[in-house]
Amino acid sequence: MELIQSELSEPYVIYTFRYFLHQWPHLAYLAFPDDLQSSEPVGVIVCKQSMHKDLTNRGYIAMLSVRKEWRKRGIASTLVRNAIEAMKEDGAEEIVLETEYDNYAALSLYDSLGFIREKRLYRFYLNGKDAFRLVLCLPPPESDDGSDVTGIPGSGSDSTRSSHSIRSRRRALYRAIQVSPYSDEEDN
Ligand SMILES: CC(C)(COP(=O)(O)OP(=O)(O)OC[C@H]1O[C@@H](n2cnc3c(N)ncnc32)[C@H](O)[C@@H]1OP(=O)(O)O)[C@@H](O)C(=O)NCCC(=O)NCCS
Repeated sequence: MELIQSELSEPYVIYTFRYFLHQWPHLAYLAFPDDLQSSEPVGVIVCKQSMHKDLTNRGYIAMLSVRKEWRKRGIASTLVRNAIEAMKEDGAEEIVLETEYDNYAALSLYDSLGFIREKRLYRFYLNGKDAFRLVLCLPPPESDDGSDVTGIPGSGSDSTRSSHSIRSRRRALYRAIQVSPYSDEEDN
């Protein structure tokens, strides 16, 4: 909790933290030093995953923080990669997050992992700063022969959900990227 409260631009209360951990415990990771001299975590990532507008299986990275003296050692990228893999296992089609427009460390980290800037959110944070919405579009899973498994009609146990996934995956492939200097559109 201290790691998150001391380092993030938005002060998260314990209830927000619990909300994520209780519902998506498998999408939270802690990094510990391997010398076992301390039981204090040096890095943390907290995420959630749900259907967005009943169309897209969306993962969301809510919090990511690495203790100052442990930075630039690949801890954050390992945490993010782990979270991405876990969300992919649960069928994520895209992963999104927001970060301050001038958080160059975070922007560079997510850039290196393939995230793109979808839009700029005007005065998104309580401190009045703008944010960038970053998104990583995930390709649909492929079968052994390279075909899109979701393209096989009725292949899923729930055909409604399956056709849902196909539709939204196709949509994701043609997603238009919007980069506007200022936008106070609702967060949607
Ligand atoms: C952003 C943060 C999580 C990065 O953690 P980290 O463990 O140092 O990141 P990594 O070592 O995995 O870095 C991976 C890549 O990110 C980029 N990066 C990380 N820190 C950077 C910095 N200070 N300046 C520029 N690029 C940076 C680099 O591209 C780096 O790859 P490289 O080492 O090959 O150059 C960390 O600085 C932090 O906790 N900041 C405060 C909280 C925060 O801003 N969280 C993100 C909110 S969305």
